[in-house]
Amino acid sequence: MTRDKRDFLILGDIPVADWPGVFERTAALKASRARGERGGTLAGKSIALVFEKASTRTRVSFEVGVFDLGGHAVVITSQGSQIARGEPIEDTARVLSGYCHAIMLRTFGHDRVTALARAAKVPVINGLTDQHHPCQVAADLFTVRERRGRIDGLRYAWIGDGNNMAASWIEAAGMFGLDLALACPEGYRPDPALVAEAHARQAALGRGSIAISSDPRDAARGADVVSTDVWASMGQEDEAAARQVAFAGYCVDAALMALAAPGALVLHCLPAHRGEEISGDVIDGPQSAVWDQAENRLHVQKAILEYLVAP
Ligand code: CP
Ligand code: NVA
Repeated sequence: MTRDKRDFLILGDIPVADWPGVFERTAALKASRARGERGGTLAGKSIALVFEKASTRTRVSFEVGVFDLGGHAVVITSQGSQIARGEPIEDTARVLSGYCHAIMLRTFGHDRVTALARAAKVPVINGLTDQHHPCQVAADLFTVRERRGRIDGLRYAWIGDGNNMAASWIEAAGMFGLDLALACPEGYRPDPALVAEAHARQAALGRGSIAISSDPRDAARGADVVSTDVWASMGQEDEAAARQVAFAGYCVDAALMALAAPGALVLHCLPAHRGEEISGDVIDGPQSAVWDQAENRLHVQKAILEYLVAP
């Protein structure tokens, strides 16, 4: 029996009920890799990894993950392909669908990944758009689960830009009924429609909260998990100077962490700018989970690839 193809463009493309299984599989894949075992669930399958923006973690974790599962990864960058010369993304989707069993895309506007997914015959994975970063927040949630044994019943803080990462965290808060407090400067708050949608999901669940303020101390107070990200994301390089001014005071440093719950975890998707959104002593200190968080990209994406692609 054939099934409709599954895409993973936003966190909610994997239903809430399926996430416990994805996380259990992630833990099993992580443990088997630690034992030196390799899998074969992608044997005979090729996965296209398409990059229209720079990457270290996404590029390497997907390429190694596909290798670990016995498949073959094909990395394409916009400059090294016909994409930068203007070939429509839909044509790229049709052509890659004839060669590959899934396509991962890192790009600018989210409309590009949805257009790719509409035209592709194979599953499409969002490896970051300007609006969402679901693979990263999946790894972040897995890291919290690994460190705390659960993701619910904890207080989460987001300090900084209402960007792609913040959007995927808001989506997670809606899906799982999490208590999430965001501190974002005026003018850099998340999309109100996304927040309203997450609030509606929480109301239906009967748990969770999403609060947005402009005071990092309000957000951090009592938090079990404190997350942040760069002040200027990829594609916003021209705004960097203005953002340095707007985000002054939005640094996850020891003083801010002193307000969080004792032993609170610190997350950062990386790359980080020490001395801007996070201080060196915090990111390199005992509360930081960022290296596990980065490694977990590999394990969770293998579970997601199996979920979408493996028979
Ligand atoms: N966190 C993350 O997506 O890192 P890269 O930009 O290096 O892929
Ligand atoms: N918000 C950052 C995340 C990088 C992984 C960006 O989009 O550049």
